[in-house]
Amino acid sequence: MVSERMASIHESKTLKIAAMAKKLTKDGLDIIDMSVGEPDFDTPKHIVEAGCNSLKMGETHYTPTAGIPELRRAISEKLSRENSLHATADDVIVTPGAKMAVFAAIQALLQEGDECVLIGPSWVSYEPCVAFSGASVTWGNVDENFMPIDLAANINPKTRVILVNSPSNPTGAVLDQSVLMEIRDLAEDHDLFVISDEIYEKIIYDHTHLSIGSLPGMEDRTVTINGFSKAYAMTGWRLGYLTGPRETMKWVNRLLSHSVSQATTFVQRAGVAAIQGPQDEVFSMVAEFRARRDLLVAGLKSLGIPCSIPGGAFYVFPDVSEFGGGDVFTEKLLKDALIAATPGSAFGPGGMDYVRLSYATSQSRIKQAVERIEKILK
Ligand SMILES: Cc1ncc(COP(=O)(O)O)c(C=O)c1O
Repeated sequence: MVSERMASIHESKTLKIAAMAKKLTKDGLDIIDMSVGEPDFDTPKHIVEAGCNSLKMGETHYTPTAGIPELRRAISEKLSRENSLHATADDVIVTPGAKMAVFAAIQALLQEGDECVLIGPSWVSYEPCVAFSGASVTWGNVDENFMPIDLAANINPKTRVILVNSPSNPTGAVLDQSVLMEIRDLAEDHDLFVISDEIYEKIIYDHTHLSIGSLPGMEDRTVTINGFSKAYAMTGWRLGYLTGPRETMKWVNRLLSHSVSQATTFVQRAGVAAIQGPQDEVFSMVAEFRARRDLLVAGLKSLGIPCSIPGGAFYVFPDVSEFGGGDVFTEKLLKDALIAATPGSAFGPGGMDYVRLSYATSQSRIKQAVERIEKILK
């Protein structure tokens, strides 16, 4: 027996492919795994030590649902310093991973009959989170650089939320100030909320990250989400957070209190160390990601595969429509080149012509991948 709402939720294609790649590797095949959504670096030592020390000090009990005061304060200071978001510690809620923050924000803001706008190919979990709420998704069109085209066409009386994810998974696109201001204007004109998922904020090249919630008029209609997984290579720790209008946070808190309770206690201490400790490893990870991006984009272009240059995150999203489309090309990559990738269709109807390649893998593996792709194209 399964509820209708659950039955409408699809399996995550990215996790399915990652599991397939792991199995093939275990079977002895030399798979280059470019399907991964996590940094291949280790969590910086001082963060690990902070977590270990917390455990050694006996911090093994419950914390308040919204998190320990020290972490909420550290996050509010970070949001003010780096994002010009003036949330107090009381306005911040810590979650077990940013995914839970996305889920909770969507459940708090959307209900049956409502619509949520996603801008072009979007992270695999947004649509299922919206479906859990009983609302539905409308897909905004984007141009060849994944910038929104005529977003107003997606707005109707049912629209409640526009979801913004910059830098984007899967496209790597970064929305600049003028685009964010257009979204702000739409939100104001139609009395909408914006959920801004900024998890890739620190993995950004040639751009400066801007939080849409900091634009005039957006404070009371934006929920900003972030986390530690990508910037600090902390995917397995499960630590994220969100901030937004008090009324919305009240309901998010209630949902968390009756479901996950809180983020793990010692992990929250590690989060304080991540924010307050040295940031040099973040910078060196980003420098390495940039070098890999350049290598992969240049390699794909040299093979005649059109690919816009991603401004952030650690994915490229080349257009493979001339090579059979995303699904066919991804299958060919796995079968003939032993490269695990994610078909663009996993990210919504606008992704059909694309494939997502993650460059959270070494430069030597990226070079090998380009050589293998060259062979299958011949
Ligand atoms: C766009 C986006 N948002 C949120 C998340 C969730 O991150 P976390 O590991 O903090 O749950 C991910 C992870 O892949 C992501 O790509």
